[in-house]
Amino acid sequence: MIKSVLRQRIPFRGLATSAQQPALKKFQIYRWNPDTPEVEPQMKTYEVDLNQCGPMVLDAILKIKNEQDSTLTFRRSCREGICGSCAMNIGGINTLACLCKIDKDTSKDTKIYPLPHMFVVRDLVPDLTHFYKQYKSIQPYLQRETLPSDGRENLQSIEDRAKLDGLYECILCACCSTSCPSYWWNQQEYLGPAVLMQAYRWLIDSRDEATKARKQMLQNSMSLYRCHTIMNCARTCPKGLNPGRAIAEIKKQLAFD
Ligand code: SF4
Ligand code: SF4
Ligand code: FES
Repeated sequence: MIKSVLRQRIPFRGLATSAQQPALKKFQIYRWNPDTPEVEPQMKTYEVDLNQCGPMVLDAILKIKNEQDSTLTFRRSCREGICGSCAMNIGGINTLACLCKIDKDTSKDTKIYPLPHMFVVRDLVPDLTHFYKQYKSIQPYLQRETLPSDGRENLQSIEDRAKLDGLYECILCACCSTSCPSYWWNQQEYLGPAVLMQAYRWLIDSRDEATKARKQMLQNSMSLYRCHTIMNCARTCPKGLNPGRAIAEIKKQLAFD
């Protein structure tokens, strides 16, 4: 395990030999700079030799930034699908640039946009202020009045802990919410799949005692019921999670209350 982690961390130094032909691939990238608002957003094309580049789209855009255009702006941190910050729309799909393999077909350009239907801070950086505000609104933390019986820990059975699998792994990248048509049109009031899945995660946590209040928060026409089970969210989640199913479970719980 340690060995494989170490191997992943070795920086990419290129595979090309002097005899190897370059494999030039074009990346069209959305550009917009708030400091020059008079300039319309535009797609800028960059060419990258895939023989001198790591395998992921994040490798390509880092290479472009380092070698061709230092003004290209995007978020990234962990580069291994954990932090959620490199979410963007690549080839028409919301995903994480660090987990998205470069399409090796050099006859096709790869188009990269920021996450759709969000305000743009600059280039590939979406404004997630409202998204985080919505996350905060569901009170994503354990709430209970009762003290633990041993005075130390709130214990949970193995079975109850297993109910959180498929929910706690969410990295809040917002790929699902920004692929959801209902979220596009009702973003101010509809919480969207990412936040609703976390609402469900706390609703079913056996240690939490705020279940009633949590349900009340969702019992209105907009926060939850704008989901029409279109399932774009589950299709796009780069972590393989299914927010649509979690939303359906919340609806079931509210219906049988
Ligand atoms: S299932 Fe619901 S949340 Fe998921 S994309 Fe469809 S409408 Fe949006
Ligand atoms: S459910 Fe998946 S796509 Fe949605 S925020 Fe979480 S990790 Fe990202
Ligand atoms: S850089 Fe962290 S998820 Fe891609």
